[in-house]
Amino acid sequence: MTVNPYKIAYQREKKARLEAEQLLEDKARSLYITNQELIDSNKELKKHQAIMLRNEKLATIGTLSAGIAHEINNPLAFISSNLEMLNTYWASCTDLFSELQRLIQSGAFSDDIILHLNTLIERYDMVFIHEDTPELLADTVDGLVRVKEIVQNLRSFARSQPTDYIEADINQGIQNTLKILNSQIIDARVSIRLDLQPISSVMCNSGEINQVLLSLIVNATQAMEESPTKKLTISSRGNAEQVEIILSDTGCGIPQDKIDDIFSPFFTTKDVDKGTGMGLSIAHSIIGGHGGEIDVTSKQGQGTTFTIKLPTMVNSQPREVKNT
Ligand SMILES: Nc1ncnc2c1ncn2[C@@H]1O[C@H](COP(=O)(O)OP(=O)(O)OP(=O)(O)O)[C@@H](O)[C@H]1O
Ligand SMILES: [Mg+2]
Repeated sequence: MTVNPYKIAYQREKKARLEAEQLLEDKARSLYITNQELIDSNKELKKHQAIMLRNEKLATIGTLSAGIAHEINNPLAFISSNLEMLNTYWASCTDLFSELQRLIQSGAFSDDIILHLNTLIERYDMVFIHEDTPELLADTVDGLVRVKEIVQNLRSFARSQPTDYIEADINQGIQNTLKILNSQIIDARVSIRLDLQPISSVMCNSGEINQVLLSLIVNATQAMEESPTKKLTISSRGNAEQVEIILSDTGCGIPQDKIDDIFSPFFTTKDVDKGTGMGLSIAHSIIGGHGGEIDVTSKQGQGTTFTIKLPTMVNSQPREVKNT
């Protein structure tokens, strides 16, 4: 039988073409996968870069805060003690004035003196001063208490307090914090869903971690004030090295152009009597001090999720900040 050389050549060419096509397809696929991996690592890189920038910015503000807190603390101390003295002086003045008024009314003085005293009382508006000063002093004390709170918050942000680490059960911390906030949560009609997995205990300052949880739960409750669905899901999970706590609310969400600001001290969208804007910056500082991370994702009008990652063992001691 004669072999058709054209057929052989055709089959050889077809086989080579199929192999080339297969090779091309394999290359294209591997190129696509590599490209996809590159896009993913680029995203990851950008995310870490943003976190690093934020951490750096907050560390700088932390140093600045410690300085400001220290500077304000000194005048605050003498304003406070002066105010206390003024209150005592005022109590003496007010006693004297009441006694003077009693004497005027008792007829102990001559008409001339009474007229003169009454003219002076009127000229210096003493009756009004007598009534108004206690209120002024009380308002000043309130203002001072508020300034002291702000300075205290600044100091916490700068983590100037020494921290005591113990082995703590974070799930228990979540339950305890919810107990503290129970009536607030009921009043706000927020339903809580807990999904707490068994997790390793964490070496931490449990008081500080509970403070972070409290801040986040209060924020979530406030964010859901106007929401038709008010649901806060708190989950925990982890392994031997790390514990993750996730708080997800159905609140108003955070606009994208504000999300980078929420960890900055004094950033707030709340009324003066509702927030100072220190909660999240202190939370960030506490978690950072424990060698952990706190991150946020949010969709405006849908809700916000905060994720805290904490190492179970202390591999990085809280960063040193000089005592103010
Ligand atoms: N769960 C949340 N949902 C929507 N917005 C939030 C949420 N948590 C925080 N925010 C936004 O971040 C801002 C800063 O929060 P942060 O806790 O630092 O301060 P604050 O709650 O305003 O005041 P403070 O905590 O000092 O009482 C809030 O004013 C709010 O705009
Ligand atoms: Mg807050």
